[in-house]
Formats: sequence, structure tokens, C-alpha cells
Amino acid sequence: MNILLTGGAGYIGSHTTVVLSQAGHNVVILDNFCNSQKSVLDRLQSILGKALPYVEADVLDAAAVEKALRDYQIEAVIHFAGLKAVGESVENPLKYYANNVQGSISVLQAMKAVGIKTFVFSSSATVYGDPQYLPYDEKHPTKPMNPYGWTKLQVEEILHDVSISDPQWKVACLRYFNPVGAHESGLIGENPSGIPNNLMPFVARVATGHLPKLNVFGNDYDTKDGTGERDYIHVMDLAEGHMAALTYLENHPGWHAINLGTGIPVSVLDLVGAFEKVIGREIPKAFAARRTGDLPVYYAQPERAKALLNWAAKRSLDEIAASTWKWQQTTVKTER
Ligand SMILES: NC(=O)c1ccc[n+]([C@@H]2O[C@H](COP(=O)([O-])OP(=O)(O)OC[C@H]3O[C@@H](n4cnc5c(N)ncnc54)[C@H](O)[C@@H]3O)[C@@H](O)[C@H]2O)c1
Repeated sequence: MNILLTGGAGYIGSHTTVVLSQAGHNVVILDNFCNSQKSVLDRLQSILGKALPYVEADVLDAAAVEKALRDYQIEAVIHFAGLKAVGESVENPLKYYANNVQGSISVLQAMKAVGIKTFVFSSSATVYGDPQYLPYDEKHPTKPMNPYGWTKLQVEEILHDVSISDPQWKVACLRYFNPVGAHESGLIGENPSGIPNNLMPFVARVATGHLPKLNVFGNDYDTKDGTGERDYIHVMDLAEGHMAALTYLENHPGWHAINLGTGIPVSVLDLVGAFEKVIGREIPKAFAARRTGDLPVYYAQPERAKALLNWAAKRSLDEIAASTWKWQQTTVKTER
């Protein structure tokens, strides 16, 4: 299948590129590189043994997206392109609504013009908001706690309306939990610019000595060791989930919301401990007060993905830690 990956040079998109290409699909990346580097394309070429076509464009430019869809005879779109920093979305909501919501509308308009109706959307567990029960299943009420989460929910709603307006649309809204880890080659992974917002890249930077210590926010939660618990999913498992979703959509038109998570809550100390095991030394850390807005615990009910997509996360926390460290050693160290 010919598949366009908007935001395909980013963290999750690059891993999905590998999975889809190795399964024989023709992947085309469309990215404006606002949060990724072109060197990713060379590293993807090293992994895949061939160069991939790419288009440097902004998804807000519907004409450019439409041209890419026509030029490469695209049959399905996976829409990763989006901004994802929750804190920044609170400070600058218009930037987030414009990029994430208007950007999605723009891609959908281009698809409509060309007649392509298969769409996989990068949604997020943040659509659920404060847990009324756990694990979150897809029937859990949705009430995001920040503008970033609202952009995801609004796009889900738009997609729902589109699929009602034309029953030929095939739409999967994949609600990711916490993607971590890297490809086994160490050539692609997550390398945010500035001080990382997410725990794993932060831990990695403390391990490499680029940051002095890890602050663990809150050690008095009602969890097994007092620290916050999340559902960390290996990015390669997540990437495989996208391929499973595309396969499912072939015979299942309509709108589908599906959690992609492990179903296992993992504490901050569990994650750090796995990393310490890999590097063979302790990560300097200090406990700090809880941060406003942080949930004590959340994790997925992953049964729908298992039932519909025949997919389940299979990689362990140890594999997550080892692949993250390999990525640091192989690539981040040399590119920083
Ligand atoms: N990583 C997470 O924790 C997480 C969790 C849930 C959902 N998501 C969603 O998954 C998607 C991918 O996340 P990621 O972690 O790979 O992020 P990322 O920032 O690494 O990748 C996003 C890519 O999209 C590109 N991009 C952004 N805006 C664009 C635009 N207007 N036009 C063209 N390209 C654009 C960026 O340059 C980048 O390459 C995002 O939509 C994100 O909101 C991520």
C-alpha cells in the first residue's frame, strides 16, 4: 500500500516508517521538520537499505498535501504531524489549535479532494482527563485537562462527523499512552530539543551527564512506591499497532477509537530502576513536591486493540531501557 505519513520524521512516525517499510509498504514522509531533523532520513535509509521519498511541507498547506497525495498515488494517511508539549499548549493555545486542529482539517480536505478515505490519527490518552475509573477503556468519558488534549479530542470529533457524512471513510483514532524506547539499531529515537518534558528522555540526559539530577515530582501518591504511575509503551510496539490498525481498516469502515497501551502501570522508580540496571549505576535523583495537574496514576485497558487489531504490546521495560541507552550511545551522543 502507498501510505503518506505526515510528521513521519518525528519520534513515532520514524519508527512506524520502519515497521511499514519492512512489511513491504511504500512510505512517503511529509514533514516541515519543526520538531525533527533531516538527518533522520539518512538514518532511516541506513536501517532500510534504501532512500525513502519525502516532501518538505506544512500540513497547513492543503495544496502541498494534495500534490503529495496525487504524486505518490497515496491510498492511506497516518497523521502524526502535530505539536505535543502540554505546557506550551497552555501558554499558547492558538498555536496548538491552529497546528493540530486546522492542520488536520487541511489534510482531510486534501484527502477529500483526491478521494482518499483511509485515515489513522495520532490521538492520546489525554482525551480522557481525570480518571473516573481505571484502567481507562474507550468508553471512559472524555474531558481533557489542557488545550493539547482538547486539540486531540476536537480532531476525533471532526473525524467522527466526517465518517458519518460518508460511510466509506475508514478512520482509526489511536489513543497512545506513554511512548518510550527506541529502534534496536540505536539510529532513531526520541531526542527533544531543550529540557525534555517527558521522563525517559530526561532520565537519559541525566545518565549522560547533560543534566545534573532527576527531580521526582511526588513520592506520597497512593501508589505502590509513592511515585506516579504511567503506562509506558515501547515505540516499536506502538509502531506495529499502526500497521495492525491499517489492516483492520481494510474491512472495517467507520470511526474507531482504540487505546494503544500495555495495561500495566509502571512507577517513576520502576522506570528509573530499569534504566539504572542497564547502565550499571545509579541515576542522581531527588524527591520534589507534586506538580499541579499531574495525575497520580493512569493506564490503559488494552482489550479493544487485542480484540479488533489482534495486537498487544509485547516488549518489556528492560527492552525499553536498553534501547533508549543504545540510542543515546549510538546517535544522540554524536549528534548533540
Ligand atoms: N510522544 C508522545 O508522548 C505522544 C503521546 C500521545 C500522542 N502523541 C501524538 O503523536 C504524534 C507524533 O508524536 P511524536 O512523539 O512522534 O512527536 P514528534 O514531535 O517527534 O513528531 C511530530 C512530527 O510532526 C512534524 N510536524 C509538526 N507540525 C507539523 C506541520 N504543521 N506540518 C508538517 N509537519 C509537522 C514535526 O516536525 C515532527 O517531525 C503527535 O501528533 C503527538 O501529539 C504523542
